[in-house]
Amino acid sequence: MTTLLRNCWYVALPGKDLKPGKMVHKKMLGEPVLVGRHEDGEVFAMRNICPHRGIPLQYGWMEGKDVCCCYHGWKFSSEDGHCREIPSLTEYDDLDISRIRVPTYPCREVQGNIWVYFAEDSKKELDPTTIPPVPTIPDFGKVSPGISETIDFACHIDHAIIGLMDPAHGPYVHSSWWWRSGPRKFRVKEKQYEPVPLGFRLVPYEMPVSARPYKILGNKVSIEIVFELPSVRTEILRGDRYSACLLTTITPIDETQCIAFQSIYWTIPWMGLFKPLLSLLTRKFLAQDRDVVIQQQEGLAYDPPLMLIDDADTQAKWYFRLKQEYQKAQAENRPFQNPVEPRILRWRS
Ligand code: FES
Repeated sequence: MTTLLRNCWYVALPGKDLKPGKMVHKKMLGEPVLVGRHEDGEVFAMRNICPHRGIPLQYGWMEGKDVCCCYHGWKFSSEDGHCREIPSLTEYDDLDISRIRVPTYPCREVQGNIWVYFAEDSKKELDPTTIPPVPTIPDFGKVSPGISETIDFACHIDHAIIGLMDPAHGPYVHSSWWWRSGPRKFRVKEKQYEPVPLGFRLVPYEMPVSARPYKILGNKVSIEIVFELPSVRTEILRGDRYSACLLTTITPIDETQCIAFQSIYWTIPWMGLFKPLLSLLTRKFLAQDRDVVIQQQEGLAYDPPLMLIDDADTQAKWYFRLKQEYQKAQAENRPFQNPVEPRILRWRS
């Protein structure tokens, strides 16, 4: 497994889980992060450690756009992290409190998810012009997802990601009565892939007429699947009547755990009626992936050599090459050069 990618946006939590005037604490990439929402709806993120004596700021409270520490009441701007007040100081003290700062993280709410940006060194103040745009699903504007589910994975993010893009595990891991049941009927799949700026995509193709569940989107339905670094997978179904999208992103908690966020968007007006059922199925589907990863950890504890084969594991190979190039380009201060070439992949599933 390789190191955690920085200079990237990661989802911290679904926007619906953070009400105005509230704060939540998270561990992301091994760092303690406090994410909050002002009364006006804007979100912010800062290091969850008071620079005075180290207590987590989560135990404090918000006062307007400031965060106050519970221990001695120091007050910090949630926008730039600078200290704005130390209640114990008197007129005889000449401490320049503006030099005291809690590191802040760029934080944005986009299409219903709250994203936090991790620079190379999150303790340094960032030049905002160097921050890339937040990953956004094309064609879906400012919509929020109809469904958001979150699930913990007890593994390094690399295992969760290559599990996510693995086309051969479906018939074994996702064999439920409501999804796939009975004897496994394998067919040869042949799909065209090509590079995109930070990853690769399954070139859109029209779904076969036999793919009945997709008919609710119209008669002609195409599918496009895109993966981009660090861990963003979008599966977009475009029909001649409606569209739907499944967004899956994975955020490292640390080197040994990560968390997957799945959001489902649609333009079907009556789809809200099926939300409870869809939520249940999404949770079950994610739990199947989580459970197999827990079993996998029992074997990985012995640090066995692992294999990636052609073509079923080619996407996993691309992921590791993309990640390596991303880090190399940054270390050499040069533009990223996508190592993926257009290619047809074939496998049986
Ligand atoms: S530890 Fe936070 S104000 Fe003292």
